[in-house]
Amino acid sequence: MKIDILTIFPKMFNTLNESLIGKAQEKKLVEINTVDFRDYTDNKHNTVDDSPYGGGAGMLLQAQPILDAFDALENKDIKKRRVILLDPAGKKFDQKMAQDFAESDNLVFICGHYEGYDERVKSVVTDEVSIGDYVVTGGELAAMIMIDATLRFVPGVLGNNVSAYDDSFSNDLLEFPQYTRPAEYKGMKVPEVLMSGNHELIRKWRLKESLKKTFLKRPDLLENHQFSDEELVMLKEIKQELF
Ligand code: ADE
Repeated sequence: MKIDILTIFPKMFNTLNESLIGKAQEKKLVEINTVDFRDYTDNKHNTVDDSPYGGGAGMLLQAQPILDAFDALENKDIKKRRVILLDPAGKKFDQKMAQDFAESDNLVFICGHYEGYDERVKSVVTDEVSIGDYVVTGGELAAMIMIDATLRFVPGVLGNNVSAYDDSFSNDLLEFPQYTRPAEYKGMKVPEVLMSGNHELIRKWRLKESLKKTFLKRPDLLENHQFSDEELVMLKEIKQELF
């Protein structure tokens, strides 16, 4: 996958050279290209923003430097390209969107600052996306979160036998509790069933714990969940045990 990032703070993306995403770049699973769109301004002071027509506070990013930087990107004829505008007013990013972005050959992130964008920037955008209902100082941190969550779904990024599809949220359920050695620590014991070696009992215990955790912490996730018959029985038991 190729990722292009249009930003006026390209150095912020050095963070992506660390950890698993750094390794993914070394392994050529992803190529990350940052473009400083200030280099594309057509004015001698290299400004990228201006005040809004019609008046009002704040400055807007101009369309010209962003669209010229976009036009200069390679491989414009790539079929599976998504052009993502980071915007607190966009659709809220989630695990399903990360999975969907991971199917693309090319992701282009446009990172904004100041009060917003000239509306004409959106002429090339396929997705307007937010990381949540709060405002950060710029789109860079938001883009990095989306890039990290997306690349976890690209085969090979997490290493062998580890799948982002098993994570919390991937099936609308939070992950079950996990334990490692020792079997008892400061009087706190690992549930017997996990040491039983009985795979079917362990599977059932994990599924029920996932359901219980989701029911207690994030009941909203269950609204989208397609319950199996087994899960419906478990959920009934959970409610009886709790109330
Ligand atoms: N830029 C500022 N706040 C943002 C948010 N919540 N999501 C995406 N981009 C942003």
